[in-house]
Amino acid sequence: MARIIGGISTSHIPAIGGAIANNLQQDPYWKPFFDGYPPVRKWLDEMQPDVAVVIYNDHGLNFFLNKMPTFAIGAAAEYQNADEGWGLKTLPPFPGDPQFSWHLIESLVNDEFDMTICQEMTVDHGFVVPLQLLWGDKKTLPVRTVPLEVNTVQHPLPSPARCYKLGKALGKAIESYPEDIKVVVLGTGGLSHQLDGKRAGFINKKFDLMCMEKIVSEPEALARYSIHDLVENAGTQGPEFIQWLIMRGALTGNVRKVHSNYHIPISNTGAGLLLLENAA
Ligand code: DHB
Ligand code: FE
Repeated sequence: MARIIGGISTSHIPAIGGAIANNLQQDPYWKPFFDGYPPVRKWLDEMQPDVAVVIYNDHGLNFFLNKMPTFAIGAAAEYQNADEGWGLKTLPPFPGDPQFSWHLIESLVNDEFDMTICQEMTVDHGFVVPLQLLWGDKKTLPVRTVPLEVNTVQHPLPSPARCYKLGKALGKAIESYPEDIKVVVLGTGGLSHQLDGKRAGFINKKFDLMCMEKIVSEPEALARYSIHDLVENAGTQGPEFIQWLIMRGALTGNVRKVHSNYHIPISNTGAGLLLLENAA
């Protein structure tokens, strides 16, 4: 049976792609951010997951205001980066796993999460930047991917409580897959940021650190926030944190924090990184 080996959550700020392309990892501005990742890459090298389920939000690329699913999932053989270009070089397509995707879809819909099923899907920085941070140093990506996309663009957004429940259904879906594969669940986005309006540039370190702590030990407490609470405390783009809650909901076993990092500001955002191991 499939096994969930752990969850990783990371911010997905597009400027990171440009920093990687220009080799700025040791630059004083970027170093405290990039220094967070080697322990996570080491853990991945040791654990050797077969598949990454990547929970992220599209930013107007694959879905726009004319058609906006609340939750969408990929069922394609591959996914192409089609972001408008933040400096990353052209990347080969990310391999999918249609058979696993269809199993997840069957299970999620059966559990009353009516996912939009995407047999074609382009991906943006919400998906691409985290994969570059985790496996960008490899010649070829050593995992197959399943993108799970969440609307954080067009209100009303799904509530944190609903997202946490989706995570639980996702965990059940993954673990009922009959093949012996190891799965890592990624939740991307956040933490606090506001890209426009009167509070543009707003970052709330205290709230971010509280979220990073409680998501380990007391995720239910975070699931009680409303989307508007998240906007108030973490800025207009702060609700991207719901992707972290889906990741956390999917971890079904004994959860242990292995590593974390937090650094501000990276671009306009409080950049958080968290690695949680999931033991049976
Ligand atoms: C930034 C952060 C994001 O999550 C995003 O999608 C775009 C930009 C930023 O901090 O610049
Ligand atoms: Fe974003």
